[in-house]
Amino acid sequence: MKDKLSLPELADRARRGERLVMVTAYDAPSARLADEAGVDIVLVGDSAGTTVMGLDSTVPVTMDDMLVFTRAVARGTRRALVVADMPLGSYQVSEEDAVANAVRFAKAGADAVKLEGGGRTLGRISSIVDAGIAVMGHVGLLPQSAIKLGGYRAQGRTASAAQPLVDDAVGLERAGCFSIVIEAVPPVVAARITAAVKVPTIGIGAGASCSGQVLVWHDLLGLGAGPVPRFVKQFGDAGAVIREALGRFADEVRAGTFPASEHTYTMPPDEQKQFEAGTGSARPPGPKRVSRP
Ligand code: KIV
Repeated sequence: MKDKLSLPELADRARRGERLVMVTAYDAPSARLADEAGVDIVLVGDSAGTTVMGLDSTVPVTMDDMLVFTRAVARGTRRALVVADMPLGSYQVSEEDAVANAVRFAKAGADAVKLEGGGRTLGRISSIVDAGIAVMGHVGLLPQSAIKLGGYRAQGRTASAAQPLVDDAVGLERAGCFSIVIEAVPPVVAARITAAVKVPTIGIGAGASCSGQVLVWHDLLGLGAGPVPRFVKQFGDAGAVIREALGRFADEVRAGTFPASEHTYTMPPDEQKQFEAGTGSARPPGPKRVSRP
């Protein structure tokens, strides 16, 4: 806990112009790698639905799913802040539910939660913040509302569509968000939002003027299955590394070259001799077997 990045430290760093780095993760070993690489924030995104659960969208993702991922990520992280995405349905129904679910994430090890959208979400955010839990906001493309927004499309591409996004972000800051994700908007809109709020903004498909950047683990590392949005840059091809290793494993198993003797356990020679001769000490007799009627 001593090494954990604090929210004031995060804000100070953004104020000094140091760019913040966020990446998604859904399990402990990935979180550990992100932490060791010096990533500032690990987002347990509900993108888990599409990246690791085999779903077509984030809509079906549940609290129970997200709590499993959050606990694993929290266990794998030392310094980075862990932000848990509140899934669809966990904060829309009632204020009481929203606060109770945010508390479940805090108990699972999250340092903060993330909610999508402004408008009616603002009241829920204030209540969660009042309950002592830090909240990250999210404007622009909101994957949980993709159907309402006309699919996974860039947002704020007209002057009349852009201004509400700025207003939403200002509302999110007023509601107490410590940071705001801006997803899939033109850079000029993200720049305006970033100038309009004091809290750090984290962009994804929002240009270079945000206070920080986020990418989804599987997109960044080449582990995804389908096409990726244009804002993705693949920084590595972990998929190729994994495929190659699995191919060699399969080849060696089929060729009988794995496992070799160095991958096996030894038995003291006299024990082995007794065992092979069938003269090893017998187990003490167990309870008498009762035959079935
Ligand atoms: O769920 C997620 O991964 C996200 C990021 C795209 C910001 O919300």
